[in-house]
Amino acid sequence: MKKELLYEGKAKKIFATDDPQLLIVSYKDDATAFNGQKKGTIRGKGVINNRMSNFLMQRLERHGIPTHFVEELSDRETLVRKVEIVPLEVIVRNISAGSFAKRYGVEEGMRFGAPAVEFSYKSDELGDPLMADAHITALNLTSSEELQTIRAYALKINDFLKAFWSERGITLVDFKLEFGRLPDGKIILADEISPDTCRLWDSATGEKLDKDRFRRDLGGVEEAYSEIMKRLEEHV
Ligand code: TMP
Repeated sequence: MKKELLYEGKAKKIFATDDPQLLIVSYKDDATAFNGQKKGTIRGKGVINNRMSNFLMQRLERHGIPTHFVEELSDRETLVRKVEIVPLEVIVRNISAGSFAKRYGVEEGMRFGAPAVEFSYKSDELGDPLMADAHITALNLTSSEELQTIRAYALKINDFLKAFWSERGITLVDFKLEFGRLPDGKIILADEISPDTCRLWDSATGEKLDKDRFRRDLGGVEEAYSEIMKRLEEHV
């Protein structure tokens, strides 16, 4: 039932299926950073990101968040619902890090009183610029109702994931989500939730257990991804 390759992104390939409403996502070990300027391979990453995303999306479904997940087909491949992707990177931050720390000239590790949700325009050519709500609706990327739904889902996902990781000795610093629209207009969670798209710090030691090890040449990249998978599976 897997048909032609529709799209190859930096970390995943998307295939058509016999059913026009379903797609197959295939996770690669390829890693990029800084808008594709840095390239590499993280051995075993595709398997980990596939399993972790699927596990978390199933938990989120039970928690009232609609997602694109349908069925895990293999170590690297998953059947998902086809959506029209909303071209926004929806970022939720609990602690300062990464581009936030750089943009505002603060140290990493500053805990916020409340989570900060921000949006970037998904455009490699433009370098994913930060967007205000008014800019999103001005460009008709979403309606204001859709944007409210996306923000509410993002905050609910944050509450769930923060508690989930905290029970496993991991601090959820920040993460990126993408949403899509079904043909009936319903907004659902799409893309992935993995160490590529989250910052996860060991709560006891502060050690970074995510893609920042690759971005910043910290070493121990594969080990960090495996450690996250081990913690995820420890307490299923
Ligand atoms: P940032 O601090 O670099 O803006 O990243 C915020 C979060 O978003 C972090 O958890 C990593 C994730 N992220 C992606 O998933 N894809 C990206 O292209 C970027 C830049 C960040």
